[in-house]
Amino acid sequence: MTTAAQKEKACSRHAKVSIIGAGNVGKTLAQRIIEKDLADVCLLDIVEGLPQGIALDLMEARPLEYHSRSVVGTNDYKDTADSDIVVITAGVARKPGMSREDLLKTNAQIVTTAAKKAIEYSPNAVFLVVTNPLDVMTYLVWKTVELSPEKVVGMAGVLDSARLQTFIALELKVAVSDVYALVLGGHGDLMLPIPRYCTVAGVPITELMPKQTIENLIQRTRDGGAEIVRLLKTGSAYYAPASSACYMIKSILLDESRILPAAVYLDGQYDLKDIYIGVPCRLGYRGVETIIEIALTEEEKEALHASARAVRANIDIALEYLAQGGGS
Ligand code: NAI
Ligand code: 2OP
Repeated sequence: MTTAAQKEKACSRHAKVSIIGAGNVGKTLAQRIIEKDLADVCLLDIVEGLPQGIALDLMEARPLEYHSRSVVGTNDYKDTADSDIVVITAGVARKPGMSREDLLKTNAQIVTTAAKKAIEYSPNAVFLVVTNPLDVMTYLVWKTVELSPEKVVGMAGVLDSARLQTFIALELKVAVSDVYALVLGGHGDLMLPIPRYCTVAGVPITELMPKQTIENLIQRTRDGGAEIVRLLKTGSAYYAPASSACYMIKSILLDESRILPAAVYLDGQYDLKDIYIGVPCRLGYRGVETIIEIALTEEEKEALHASARAVRANIDIALEYLAQGGGS
């Protein structure tokens, strides 16, 4: 239950966000949060010295960036106490010889351990999950912290939609601020961009571009993460992912009630049950305030269900692995 005092704190100068995982996404997100003057940040990592070094570097930029938010780097969960939001970005990326399943199991172990420790010190926090495979990890965090589902949400739809928004603006040579895009479903190959809900100044892109061009932009969006991995060669995207997480954090801390696509717990909505998957929701200080059910065609609904089946299969693999004492 969120009290008025908690809301006041979340919306005040004393808001605190803890970020578990001080890698590329975690440290970039810390920078975005403090430079936007949203909250103080506690950055935690398993590697000794890493979060402390990043925190000190970010603190030394304060006199030049004109903000007074603080960042603390730590390896101790005690320092995350009383966070309004806990972000989980800890995990490993795929390495040569590693299967997707290996990544799933390794990250399942990391995020559940992190969530278990973090909830101990921040029982009232909203948990925002970033670690991949996103929808599965969000489900596992929810299971671990045993909070009501609206307090646990996953970031992917904002990123996937921002990518499609970018590609539409580049293709039509229009201001990106005039473009709206909507991508639903799991954060994977079966994600579901909905062209008739993608607009430029209110006009659906289906009236502005040939079908084949739209198909090409959709495919580029589905491959958006892989395209950046190919270019970077080591590691994956982090600037746009950090911006996407920060966008969600702002809506929560400032109680903006923005309507965003995010991985949320479905209990019958879209005829899906007991799963986290990307659909539009309203994000405010309580976390997921409302899940929005938009009208889907039969074809779109089947595509969403196909994406959900893929997520569910991985949830089952991860749950079985953890039940067998995986990793410990
Ligand atoms: P990274 O490898 O740069 O950082 C991961 C960090 O987690 C490292 O600093 C590592 O030391 C830390 N870590 C590992 N085990 C830990 C533990 N037990 N406790 C605390 N910290 C631990 O990776 P990056 O680029 O920051 O990505 C992080 C995760 O976010 C990955 O799983 C990635 O696939 C995912 N991601 C998800 C996106 C989305 O749209 N949901 C977008 C971008 C990344
Ligand atoms: C991305 O889409 C890796 O999930 C991450 O960039």
